[in-house]
Amino acid sequence: MSVENASLRDTMPRTDIMQLFSLRTRPLNVCAPMVRYSKLPFRELVRRYNCDIVYTPMILASVFSASQYSRECEFSTNDLDDPVVIQFAASNGVDLANAAELAAPYVSGIDINCGCPQKWAIQEKIGSHLMSDPETVRDMIRQTKARVSVPCSIKIRIHRDLRETEEFVKRALSVGVDFITVHGRTRRQKSTEPVNLEGMKLVKEVSTVPVLANGDVFCVKDADDIVAATGVDGTMSARGILENPALFAGYDVTPWECIEDYVDIALSYGTNAFIFHHHLMSMFEHTMSNAERRTFNSLTSVPSILDHLEEHYGLNIAEKRARRPLRPLVKPFSQPLQK
Ligand SMILES: Cc1cc2nc3c(=O)[nH]c(=O)nc-3n(C[C@H](O)[C@H](O)[C@H](O)COP(=O)(O)O)c2cc1C
Repeated sequence: MSVENASLRDTMPRTDIMQLFSLRTRPLNVCAPMVRYSKLPFRELVRRYNCDIVYTPMILASVFSASQYSRECEFSTNDLDDPVVIQFAASNGVDLANAAELAAPYVSGIDINCGCPQKWAIQEKIGSHLMSDPETVRDMIRQTKARVSVPCSIKIRIHRDLRETEEFVKRALSVGVDFITVHGRTRRQKSTEPVNLEGMKLVKEVSTVPVLANGDVFCVKDADDIVAATGVDGTMSARGILENPALFAGYDVTPWECIEDYVDIALSYGTNAFIFHHHLMSMFEHTMSNAERRTFNSLTSVPSILDHLEEHYGLNIAEKRARRPLRPLVKPFSQPLQK
């Protein structure tokens, strides 16, 4: 089910994220950008469980602005998908600003990925490569802010020498970055290593804009502890919320209700079997035995997964389906751009 209509930008007013920060009465709960996974169905799911802001997966800015096919595949939305921040990876200000201009009518923010540690990303001079190129990041922010009115943020890592992080942040602030997410690890640190609270606190202390802390949020207590230790304005979770999309609602393990919600939402938008399987495996991470996992891993199609869930777990989404108002999947970029 999809809607192809360029005038949708008029019918989908987007939340002002900066107002969300300034009016907040508690730290904000944020779902991280996750390649392949933080797509529209997952974004709708986590919003039901107390997420205030949700990011799209990282999208390559140059490809997004050059290819209609990429835009159509990479970004779908609807009126429930709010506030959403679109995250771009870019190596220069022109690519970023071009992509930002196209996306801006449909989102509440444009984020620059300065954290992806993968080898190919560093070779392309995107992601965490940018942590050693603050001038390019400054130019990206400057050019983007000159072209769009939605907030422009950066998602950064810390440096081994925190003085470099401080300098990096100050340069971004000098060109008006609107808010900052800091993942409390260096680009070489694995996600199994603990986050550096001092680094996150430093970013908050030197910033004149809101700061979100990212890393190792697996339950509400983790989020509370990080806020208490760093003073940040909110926390962002990736692996934790993938395993337990209800974590910000106070659940320590994914409740069955949330799994049924996911199945219902994913089916109503349409899903591919790989992503459907991966989300469910993640959500069952702490509740399935090894034997159950082996069986579940052998399922390769959506119907076989559904049969299995019905037979072994009593999945029943008929009632949910009847109660849930149908929302169209909106593909703002399904038509060639008008000159
Ligand atoms: C499956 C997966 C996909 C990710 N994709 C992105 C991405 O698209 N953009 C990004 O900035 N970070 C991405 N990350 C990194 C996370 O956003 C986050 O910074 C990192 O996992 C640390 O947070 P955590 O400890 O809550 O997992 C990804 C992480 C995971 C696990």
